[in-house]
Amino acid sequence: MAKGIDVGTMNILSAQQDGNDTVFVQQRNSFVEIEHSDMAEQMLSRSEVLHIRKDNKVYVVGDDALNFANIFNKETRRPMQQGILSSDEKSAIPMIKLITEQVVGEPDEPGEKLYFSSPADPIDSDLSTLYHQKTIESFLDDMGYNAEPINEGMAVIYSELADNNFTGLGISFGAGMTNVCLSYYAVPVMKFSVARGGDWIDEQAAQATGTPVDKVTSIKEDEFELDFTTDVGGVEGALSIYYENLLDYVIENIVREVDEEDVEEGLDVPVVVTGGTSSPRGFEDLFRDHLRDANIPFSISGVRHANEPLYSVARGALVAARSDEEEERTRGGQEAAVESED
Ligand SMILES: Nc1ncnc2c1ncn2[C@@H]1O[C@H](COP(=O)(O)OP(=O)(O)OP(=O)(O)O)[C@@H](O)[C@H]1O
Ligand SMILES: [Mg+2]
Repeated sequence: MAKGIDVGTMNILSAQQDGNDTVFVQQRNSFVEIEHSDMAEQMLSRSEVLHIRKDNKVYVVGDDALNFANIFNKETRRPMQQGILSSDEKSAIPMIKLITEQVVGEPDEPGEKLYFSSPADPIDSDLSTLYHQKTIESFLDDMGYNAEPINEGMAVIYSELADNNFTGLGISFGAGMTNVCLSYYAVPVMKFSVARGGDWIDEQAAQATGTPVDKVTSIKEDEFELDFTTDVGGVEGALSIYYENLLDYVIENIVREVDEEDVEEGLDVPVVVTGGTSSPRGFEDLFRDHLRDANIPFSISGVRHANEPLYSVARGALVAARSDEEEERTRGGQEAAVESED
């Protein structure tokens, strides 16, 4: 068996094959710290709530963090920021480790292949992804996996463009980042990220309207549509403005990177957009319109939206892990055949 895992700023998801189905396990990449009491400890131990005790504190992690934060009137904290481990959060590593272990589980056999998503270096900030990538890799290896990083944009290609020979432009609009990858027959010819995504939209809209960020996020995730009809001065109006701004920013950077990388002009490729931030109704059309107006030096055969935007990256990581495993098995088989001929 082989597995895939999407280690995202807001969500951590694993993917695994079960017969013809792909099974996903998901947790929010966040936690909340509450004071320890015997009562709390007892209650938590008897429940399914994922938690850890350290010194005089109890940390509730994953999906339940938000509920506990509301009940105890605390803020949730996040191990990652802008696509990578947060340097401002001292508990980042133990917390993300715990969430990851819960999501991916024990390996089925020692050295099981596990592909984990890792962002490309952002072109608009000094952040480097290396430390993040090596840290995740080392604790997955410690769990008994044989962990390999896969670029997040490339995972989108594996997940969504199998029917086009893994050729096209894949874009993952996440929480902390947007990752872009242009692939030609499964070979990445250009990949980069920008350190803006859903979190950036939320922060900007919150600041503009004087609304708490959490409130903005829940409005955005619940009922928001990109239809540009109403709400001048309201949160939804502000969300629309920053959504449009993010799209233009991503497209501008694609044009710039394509120029710099000297991508061949004769290409004609599809574009796939995915990631949680691509969820609102109207996103695909808005992106298509703005891309049409941009000066991309190769032709785009169409823009499509992934069916399950939150699952694309985990599914792509699984596809990569399985194909690697398959290749190894074939190679192993051939070597055995050669040996027996000797
Ligand atoms: N229905 C929805 N409508 C609008 N936005 C949504 C919706 N569901 C999730 N989001 C947003 O999508 C983002 C999370 O998406 P995703 O899980 O793809 O990101 P991630 O992989 O955790 O982050 P990154 O790839 O940047 O590290 C958040 O900003 C979240 O608010
Ligand atoms: Mg992501």
